[in-house]
Amino acid sequence: MRLLITGGRVIDPASGVDATLDILVEDGQILQVDKRVQGSGSGGPGKNKKPAGRDGQTEIRVIDATGKIVVPGLIDMHVHLREPGREDEETIASGTAAAARGGFTSICCMPNTDPVNDTASVTEYILEQAKKVGRVNVFPIGCISRGHHGEQLADIGDLAAAGCVGLSDDGKPVMNAELMRRAMEYATMFDITVIPHCEDLTLSEGGVMHEGRVSTKLGLKGIPSAAEAVMVGRDILLSEYTGARLHVCHVSTTESICLIREARARGVQVSGEATPHHLILTDEAVRGFSTNTKMNPPLRSAEDVTALREALIDGTIEIIATDHAPHASFEKEMEYDYAPFGIIGLETALGLILTEFYHTRLLALPMIIERLTTNPARILKLKHKGTLVPGADADITILDPDQEWIVEENDWQSKSKNSPFIGWKLKGRAVMTIVAGQVVWETS
Ligand code: DOR
Ligand code: ZN
Ligand code: ZN
Repeated sequence: MRLLITGGRVIDPASGVDATLDILVEDGQILQVDKRVQGSGSGGPGKNKKPAGRDGQTEIRVIDATGKIVVPGLIDMHVHLREPGREDEETIASGTAAAARGGFTSICCMPNTDPVNDTASVTEYILEQAKKVGRVNVFPIGCISRGHHGEQLADIGDLAAAGCVGLSDDGKPVMNAELMRRAMEYATMFDITVIPHCEDLTLSEGGVMHEGRVSTKLGLKGIPSAAEAVMVGRDILLSEYTGARLHVCHVSTTESICLIREARARGVQVSGEATPHHLILTDEAVRGFSTNTKMNPPLRSAEDVTALREALIDGTIEIIATDHAPHASFEKEMEYDYAPFGIIGLETALGLILTEFYHTRLLALPMIIERLTTNPARILKLKHKGTLVPGADADITILDPDQEWIVEENDWQSKSKNSPFIGWKLKGRAVMTIVAGQVVWETS
């Protein structure tokens, strides 16, 4: 089966392409990207026409992308699939379906499952299951510590050999600096990125939201900004000392951004990611006590959101990732203090970013796409991903930047619905998601 995508505005930040072009896909790869791909005139580029291929045999599906944006498949390097262990909240099948709907063709899954992904056998299970039932590519992230306990190193060599593309104890920080140092040394040996969840537990203990005026007013225990920044500082110093590549997850505070900016300026290999929710919501959202505003790190102050937006725009923050964290309704429907941390994000991320950054002219489309494709592929060294150059994997997302839609409470591919954006009107979404040349999501 071949695909011919005609007439769309093709944006490929990796190759600097931004033009109206046709794309020909064959055998799961990009074959040609050109002004008018040979033969694309046959029968005219009508929607879903199926003219014969060059040999008169192979079927070609022609997709008319006029008025749409064609980009490399989006990559979300921070997703929690709950399989194995909490398949009631998310499975590899449902999580990858949510990704496909959101325009993501590749996702990285964090290891805080049950059992945790701290051995090659769990990594292999995830990869096998993804191959069987996954709609999109799944790249596992392995544990830093054995059992996710923060005491002994996991078998990092085995995890890397089994296919883990990064190391993290996400959900928890690695409090022991010596252990983090060793993890970084091993990560360097196996050429793999360390992706810490930066939080000093002695500072954050018992906190459920950002520490500030709102937490005082609401009488909820706060998590100070310093709880994150202290760890970001430590891990930057350790990365500088060991030479390890460091990627700081879900950056939320002004202080962390300053540390990352300074470290990058002096040549430390550190990158940072921001989630749509930390870029858009402030701690004011907690006032209604909805537990869908509870996540870790918490929603911060308006000043932090401004600093995070500036960092996304100036490139200090290179990545947008969701931290998609499904939780069962019966667990979220609790008092704020007792509800689990985390919200889903795969199906709303693109709409939110287009609405809040593209339609407000804060970020041009190529800059947004770079932070969702080229940059994660580069940081994780994902071969043939994040670009549309001939020879790359045919992972492609087609966007309608102007389509308006409403986030409905009961309309999710995810098994969970813990989103603070229910009821929001968004502008822009993925209309077609293609993985290895196969259409895995298309709006009717
Ligand atoms: O909000 C969060 N949820 N933060 C984390 O670090 C973990 C995640 C989860 O697994 O639910
Ligand atoms: Zn985390
Ligand atoms: Zn996470």
